[in-house]
Amino acid sequence: MAGGGARAARPRDGTAGSLEEFKARLPLAEIVGRWVKLTRRGREWVGLCPFHAEKTPSFSVVEDKGFYHCFGCGAHGDAVSFVMAIERLEFKEALARLEELTGIRAPRRAGPDAERVDPSLYELNAAAALWFQTRLAEPEAEPARAYLERRGLDRATIAAFRLGWAPADRTALRRALAAQGFAPERAVAAGLLRVPEGGGEPYALFRERVIFPIADGRGRIVGFGGRTLGDGQPKYLNTPDTELFHKGRLLYGLDRAAEPARRKGLLVVAEGYMDVIALDRAGFPAVAPLGTAMGELQLERCWKLVDQPIVCLDGDAAGLRAALRLAERAAPLLRPNRSLGFVVLPEGEDPDSLLRSGAGDVLASLLARPEPFASFVFRVIRAQLSPGLERMEERARLRTRLREIVAEVRDPDVRASLAEEFRARLSAELERLGLDRRATRRGGSPGSRPGPAGAGLPATRAVAASELLSGLGRLESWREAPILAPLLAAPELLAEVEEELAELELENPVLERLRQELLLCWSQNHHLDAPALADHLARCGLAEPAARVRQTGGTGGEAGVDEGSGSPLERWRATVARLRRRMTHQRELHALAQRSDVSHAERPLAGLDRLLNARDEDAVGHPPPHPAGPRPR
Ligand code: UTP
Ligand code: MN
Repeated sequence: MAGGGARAARPRDGTAGSLEEFKARLPLAEIVGRWVKLTRRGREWVGLCPFHAEKTPSFSVVEDKGFYHCFGCGAHGDAVSFVMAIERLEFKEALARLEELTGIRAPRRAGPDAERVDPSLYELNAAAALWFQTRLAEPEAEPARAYLERRGLDRATIAAFRLGWAPADRTALRRALAAQGFAPERAVAAGLLRVPEGGGEPYALFRERVIFPIADGRGRIVGFGGRTLGDGQPKYLNTPDTELFHKGRLLYGLDRAAEPARRKGLLVVAEGYMDVIALDRAGFPAVAPLGTAMGELQLERCWKLVDQPIVCLDGDAAGLRAALRLAERAAPLLRPNRSLGFVVLPEGEDPDSLLRSGAGDVLASLLARPEPFASFVFRVIRAQLSPGLERMEERARLRTRLREIVAEVRDPDVRASLAEEFRARLSAELERLGLDRRATRRGGSPGSRPGPAGAGLPATRAVAASELLSGLGRLESWREAPILAPLLAAPELLAEVEEELAELELENPVLERLRQELLLCWSQNHHLDAPALADHLARCGLAEPAARVRQTGGTGGEAGVDEGSGSPLERWRATVARLRRRMTHQRELHALAQRSDVSHAERPLAGLDRLLNARDEDAVGHPPPHPAGPRPR
C-alpha cells in the first residue's frame, strides 16, 4: 500500500509526467522546421525530406496528430524519433535535446539505469578534478606547467581539458575531500584513494602526475588519467574500473567531440590523451580509448556520431597490428553505412607529434582521404604474410586470413562486396607478381596471343546479395554448376580442393556467391557436413540456387559431372579441367572472331557457343552472350 502511494505521488510533484504528455506538448512543426524548410498546405506542413535526396517535397508534418511522414522514403515518426534520426541521438539524449530546444520539461524515468549510481560519486569526482586543477597553479607544480608548455599546450587548452596536477603528498586529497564532506570510503570507491595492503589510512593513487580528467558522454567526470613527467612507470596511470568508470565503454574526449563530429561528419579515433587534445586544438573532433583496445561498445558510440570514424594510428608495426585488431573487431558490425576509414601516419609519428611539428595540413589532407576498410585490411594482412606468395601454402594462408575476416561480417551485402574486393585485390596482386596462372600460361605458349576477351576480362562486379537474388531469373549459364554440385553433396571434399576452388572464379554471379559462401563456411568449420552447409546457405538466402546446383550435379554425365572411374576428388578435378579447357577454346575462338571481323564478332560466336555448350546447357540456361566459364587465373 505504502509503495503504491509513493509511486502515485510522482506525477503530482511535476517532475515526471508521462512520455505521451510530453510528446503531445511538443510543437512538432516548429521543431522539424529547424532542419526542414516547411510550407503550410492545408492542415499539414510540407517540405523536402531530410532523410533522402529529393527535388520535390514529399515530406509532410501533421502537427495535430504529432507525426511526420515521407511519401518518398517512408520515414515516419514523432518529434522524438525525428530528433533521434536527424541528430543521431539515443532516446534519452533526444529527450534532453528536445527539452533544450523547447524549454518543455522531459519526463524523468526512475529506471534502474538512472538510479544505479550514487550521484555523490559524480560530485566527488568533480570536486577532485577541481582540486587537481587548482594544484596546477601552485609553486610545487612548476615542473608540470613547464612540461605542458613544452608539449605545446596553452592555458586555454589546459582549462578546456581541465588538466591538473596531483602533488606528491599522499594524504592532501583525502583531507581536502573530507573537508568538503566526502568520506574517505567514497573516495576509495571512486578509485582516487587506495587502502594499503595491510590496512591503514587510504592514500592518494595519483601522485606527482599531470591529471587528465575523463568524462562520460554527458561531460560528467568519471575517472582520471595521470601522466608522469619523467620516465617513471607506468607512463599513464588510470582510475581502476569503478561504479562509474568502465574502460570498455568510455572514450576520452567524447564529451567535447560529439557535437562537432556530428556537425562536420568527421571523427578521428586516436590512440592517446595527448593526440585527442592536439587534434581537438587543430579543429578535428577526436576520441581515444583509455589505454585499452577499442571495444564494440566504443565503436557503436562512434557510429552514433558519424558513418565512418577514421582510425588514425602510428605507422609502426605495433600501430598497424592494433589497427588490424580494431578492423577485425569492427568487421561483424559493419553495415552499408557503417564502416571505418584508416589513416596510417609515418612511422614514429602520432597525431600529436605531427601537429606539433607544424604538419597540420599534411594531417588534414590525410584525414580527407582515409583508406577504406577493405583496402587497409588487405594491405596489412598481405604485408604481415610477407613475401612468399610464390608458394601455394602462403597464398592459401593469405586467402584463409582474408576469408576469416569476411566470415565475421554479419551484413550479407557488406560481406559479399568485401569478399569480392579481397578477391579482386588478390588477383591483381598475383598478376603483379607474375603468379597469375593466366599470365603464366600466356607467357609459356608464344603462339597463343591473348585475345581481347582474354586480356580484358571484366572483373566480376561486387554485387549485393539482394541484387543477386532478384537476378535469379535472368541468369546466363548454369554450366559451371557441376563444379559446385559435388561439394554441396560432400563438403568434406573441400579439405582437398579448397585451394583449387579458391583460385577459380565463376562467371555466373550467383554461382560465384555460392562458391564464396562455401569457402567461408569451410574456413569456419572444417567438420562441415552437407545438412549444415545447406542450412547455412539457406540462411544466406541461397537455398534456391543451391537446390538448382544439386539438381544439375546429381544426374550424371549429361549434366556435366564427369562420371567415369576414379575417386570423387579425381572426378571433380576432371570436371574443372574440362570446363577450363572449353573456356580456353572459346576464348581463342572469340579472339579469332574479333580479329577477323570486329563488327560481326557476336554472330559467328553465338553459333559456336551454342555448339560448344549444347552438352552442358540444361533446360534453364541460355547460351551466354559471350564466352564464359570458370576462369583460371
Ligand atoms: P602512448 O605510449 O602512445 O602515449 O600511449 P602517448 O599518448 O603518445 O603519450 P605521450 O605523448 O607520450 O604523453 C597511448 C595511450 O595509451 C594509454 C594512454 O591512454 C595513452 O594516451 N597508456 C599508455 C596507458 O594507459 N598507460 C601507459 O602506461 C601508457
Ligand atoms: Mn604521443
